[in-house]
Amino acid sequence: MNHELCIMNLNKLSLPANPKTAVLFGSPNNNGHTKKYLDEFLALLPPGGETEIIDAYGLRPAPCFGCGYCTENGKCKNNDLDGVFEKLSAADLAVIASPVYFYGFPAPLKAVVDRLQPLYINKFIRKGPFCENKNAGALIATSGRDDAETFEMLKRQSKIVFSLLSKELRIAFYFPETDKI
Ligand SMILES: Cc1cc2nc3c(=O)[nH]c(=O)nc-3n(C[C@H](O)[C@H](O)[C@H](O)COP(=O)(O)O)c2cc1C
Repeated sequence: MNHELCIMNLNKLSLPANPKTAVLFGSPNNNGHTKKYLDEFLALLPPGGETEIIDAYGLRPAPCFGCGYCTENGKCKNNDLDGVFEKLSAADLAVIASPVYFYGFPAPLKAVVDRLQPLYINKFIRKGPFCENKNAGALIATSGRDDAETFEMLKRQSKIVFSLLSKELRIAFYFPETDKI
């Protein structure tokens, strides 16, 4: 990671003192490329904060079954991810750190994303109360190869994820061609 460039970009996050950071980690490899770049990024954050890494593979999230329960009830009939969404929503900075898998997120992380459907329903369909605070969101993504569209889906999906978690995507760091490392 180019540290000077990174520090310049960090200003865009407008973090408070002692920021709370919650990371949604999408790689199955705890010693892989994504973790390495995530650790470098976290090391640049202001000192004194707290960071929690939420491992999407470790969550073993059930996928969304599109059952319509949340349309009727405003919540999912499974509550296993409620705490995860609460932590990500409450954080001053939410980070999605993930490798690219077939131009998208790895399946467990995508399952977490799909489970945001109740928040989507509440915001856009049921039009219930919704916290419009916009704290910082950051995306860190790695890929084996590189082409013009490698990171497009991750970026697009991160934007809607962050918007549902009272965040906005303020910075994205892309690390392509890890196959060559
Ligand atoms: C199932 C699978 C699908 C992948 N799909 C892509 C892809 O579409 N484009 C790409 O450039 N790299 C792809 N890769 C390579 C990974 O994105 C790359 O190796 C990444 O840096 C791995 O991160 P990690 O070390 O954190 O696991 C894929 C790897 C796997 C295992």
